[in-house]
Amino acid sequence: MKPIPLNDFIYWVGGIDWDLRNFHGYLTQRGSTYNAYVIMDEKITLIDTVKYYLTDEMLERISCIVDPSKIDIIISNHVEMDHSGGLPQLMELCPNAMLITSPNGAKGLEAHYKKNWNYTVMKTGDSISLGKTSLQFILEQMVHWPDNMACYMPQTNILFSNDAFGQHIATSQRFDDEYPFDIIMDEAKKYYANIVLPYGKQTQNVLDAIEGLPITMIAPSHGIIWKQHTSQIIAHYKKWANNETSNKAIIVYDTMWNSTKLVAHAIKDAFEQHAIPVKLFDLKTIHISDIMTEVLDARYICVGSPTLNNNMLPTVAAFLTYCKGLAPKNRVGLAFGSYGWGGQSVAQVEDVLQQMGWRLIPAIKVNYVPQKQLLVTIAQQVFEKINEIDF
Ligand code: FEO
Repeated sequence: MKPIPLNDFIYWVGGIDWDLRNFHGYLTQRGSTYNAYVIMDEKITLIDTVKYYLTDEMLERISCIVDPSKIDIIISNHVEMDHSGGLPQLMELCPNAMLITSPNGAKGLEAHYKKNWNYTVMKTGDSISLGKTSLQFILEQMVHWPDNMACYMPQTNILFSNDAFGQHIATSQRFDDEYPFDIIMDEAKKYYANIVLPYGKQTQNVLDAIEGLPITMIAPSHGIIWKQHTSQIIAHYKKWANNETSNKAIIVYDTMWNSTKLVAHAIKDAFEQHAIPVKLFDLKTIHISDIMTEVLDARYICVGSPTLNNNMLPTVAAFLTYCKGLAPKNRVGLAFGSYGWGGQSVAQVEDVLQQMGWRLIPAIKVNYVPQKQLLVTIAQQVFEKINEIDF
């Protein structure tokens, strides 16, 4: 339970959630951390807390540096309870500490905790002196809640970015030069796809706000601290915020008696003929939060379902509901499926793709089991339609 120094007066004092596997519906196969930071300046300052059940772990880390009751300033950059869960205990321990938050943070903390705390509200451009150092505040509205805020220390060029640039990884390593970089990037991509994706414009606002700031370290509120690769993660955020895609296709489906699966494979053949990288995902075997990681940079997204009781399969409906909420833009969609009678599923799938504003390749609907010649024809039709898409 030792704190980990970022330099000679700033320490990571967060909590490691080794067992977390589900973060409100997002599978976190590698667990997570809730990052909190202590700054040992003339004003002893704590940036964020942890989920309530890791508060004692955080206090133990802080106690290795200083008596937690000596904290002068507590900064709550985000109301969400994975970062504010330790606040009630902290405010009991240090009732005279200045509690700094954003305007929406004050409203959210009040609404959630219903405590009579005395908030000091900061907005973009405001700053506070801690003694030898200072913190400048940057509102991160809707990245991904109305209250998110970051703070930047100009004397060290450290950006405490809160949820932005985070990843769900539980590890005893804290820095990006201590942990496999490909895993950090995979988890940062998954995090963006499942948490930040609906807020591209707001993310761009944050990127604009930090543009030009010298940044030597990005200390997010989840996972690994960026030290060697700050420019890479910022470049990726620019691309993701702009909904930039790669020439890549994914085919997401569920199947009852393999007819929809056969169509999925015919569609795959069409993309392969174009030498477009393509991946197939059977919703029975992969979680929707992992599919979203692939959606993030896929240009073509094909979704298939047979008809069950006048509807698409519940697995497909769940994926589409989740995907629609995360609102990926500038995609090309293709609905497909099979049916015995009724056959409503394909139109239902296509309707959701249309609601997301995607350009559509004409839907494919087959009755009972498609024979080989029909599958060849489907592959040829999809191949030709891909040709017509001007991206
Ligand atoms: Fe990591 Fe929005 O909380």
